[in-house]
Amino acid sequence: MLTLDENELLTRVSCGTPAGELLRRYWHPVAAAGELTEKEPIRAVKILGEELVVYRDKKGRYGLVGEHCPHRLASLAFGRVDEEGIRCPYHGWKFDSSGKCLEQPAEPPESTFKDRIKHSAYPVEYLGGLLYAYLGPPPTPVLPCWDVLAWEKGKRWVVKESVIDCNWLQPMENSVDPSHLYWLHGDTAHLAPRVKKYAEQHEFIPFEFGIKKRRTTLPLATGEAPMVDEHPLLFPTILRHVAPYEGGKKHRHNLQIRVPVDDEHTQVFRVNFVPSDSEKSPAGAEVPFRFSQLKTGPGKYDMSMVSAQDSMAWETQGYIADRRQEHLGVGDEGIIALRKMLREQIERVQRGFDPIGVIRDRAKNQIIDLGVINERIGLYKAPDPTQDPKAATG
Ligand code: FES
Ligand SMILES: [Fe+2]
Repeated sequence: MLTLDENELLTRVSCGTPAGELLRRYWHPVAAAGELTEKEPIRAVKILGEELVVYRDKKGRYGLVGEHCPHRLASLAFGRVDEEGIRCPYHGWKFDSSGKCLEQPAEPPESTFKDRIKHSAYPVEYLGGLLYAYLGPPPTPVLPCWDVLAWEKGKRWVVKESVIDCNWLQPMENSVDPSHLYWLHGDTAHLAPRVKKYAEQHEFIPFEFGIKKRRTTLPLATGEAPMVDEHPLLFPTILRHVAPYEGGKKHRHNLQIRVPVDDEHTQVFRVNFVPSDSEKSPAGAEVPFRFSQLKTGPGKYDMSMVSAQDSMAWETQGYIADRRQEHLGVGDEGIIALRKMLREQIERVQRGFDPIGVIRDRAKNQIIDLGVINERIGLYKAPDPTQDPKAATG
């Protein structure tokens, strides 16, 4: 149970709020790159309560600027792009990706008015089929090369879900809530049937990028070996997961990125990667993208989909769950651990430090292999050749 003030502290995302300032220290995806085409090179996006447009200019460069033109506030989402940037549809003011005003067609040629206009603009980078933005203060940190975004041997694709009508923290608390698996998803074929909690042990291990959620399925019969899965929460907005693919013959690794749109809405992007020796997804290559509709109507969910089952649970908790009314038990220790980490990281930012997981050293911008395992679906920890002589020779 939290007080109203604590709940506000942990959930609100606008500029100047404690959690909003923390969230602004990280890169967040604003669109799938596949959403911007030659025909439709501009898209309105909302993130952390800010209305923006993301665009690709005629040279193929990306930009992210405030949606409302600083002249008289018309939407740049209806504008045009050229080789230099984006032009407002109303009176033709033009901006580059740094927010510099390049042209004001109705002003006299000798006017210096445009030099005094600075439109809001943020850095945007492409990785793994997503366009990532950084809305925080300079200096801009490195965009982390999570394994699923950067692996090359295999097939990658991006799914953008319909916007979820609730605060971002509800999906993130779900990421450290292993006991919901058998109940919320218990009827879905590839998951285990409903079992009682005493058959499992749950651990929540803080590590350099967040919290490692380790589930150990305890043997129900003599002779059975315990099975472990580890799915990290990458602080503050990502669940790194793995699931069976093609009937369990392969593994589908994925990042589920829960982007705060505003206080009461969350945009989920999923990046999937299936390792394979016969396929290649080189860095910078186009990544297929599709849209997924979670609801069939207001308050109606396609409950055959795992992601719709989850979003039903998150939305029905309320736009911003009123945590004054909840009753947490021993089985909710992951949620308590996440809230503790969130409070600590808010305080770090308030004291002027980087929060957990922010990477500054560009030399360290290597693929971050998270070593995710799930023994229940046959994905085991890779043998360490320095520890296991048989693995080294075999
Ligand atoms: S409102 Fe954009 S140019 Fe006038
Ligand atoms: Fe779930």
